[in-house]
Amino acid sequence: MNASKPVLLAYFSSTGNTARVAHDLAERLGADIENIQDRRHRAGMLGQFTAAFDAWREAPGRIGALRYNPADYAITVVGTPVWTAKMTPAIRAYLRETRSQIQSAAFFVTSGDTDIGRLLPSLESAAGRASVASAGFNGKELRDAVIYERKLSALVAQVTRAVQLSRQAA
Ligand SMILES: Cc1cc2nc3c(=O)[nH]c(=O)nc-3n(C[C@H](O)[C@H](O)[C@H](O)COP(=O)(O)O)c2cc1C
Repeated sequence: MNASKPVLLAYFSSTGNTARVAHDLAERLGADIENIQDRRHRAGMLGQFTAAFDAWREAPGRIGALRYNPADYAITVVGTPVWTAKMTPAIRAYLRETRSQIQSAAFFVTSGDTDIGRLLPSLESAAGRASVASAGFNGKELRDAVIYERKLSALVAQVTRAVQLSRQAA
């Protein structure tokens, strides 16, 4: 592996929950942040409906140009909201586009109440590899500062450990 930097944090967020987790993680991990835009699904009622329908039928979005190449990073942490118990079209498109460049993958999701276990197999399949770390943040966990901090710290520790292991293996 010739990844020169430790962590890339790539996420899509519509209403801010995933963005919040992504920025908190990135700050603690010293990660570069890729904020993925979905150019197929516009704001508004119709856009939301189409986006949800595309999540459900597992159709990828059309994402904007990317700033960072996952090949330059030991680990790419990918964050998505849960839509219709699936990943978002934007993240499906991102993983489709970058799977050959991703060195190691970690995932997090934010949701109302769907557990990350529902999505992890499809996230791993889309990335073409098993994850080295994962966590889900549901609505209650996002609202409760103590639980949120505990889950965030645990994920930071998992990713940090995975970076160390990848450095030792290089
Ligand atoms: C179209 C749509 C579908 C959703 N489907 C689910 C779902 O199946 N399960 C769930 O727990 N939450 C679901 N949610 C709630 C979001 O996953 C949750 O609010 C998430 O934190 C939003 O992330 P964001 O603020 O980064 O966009 C859905 C939200 C939307 C807009």
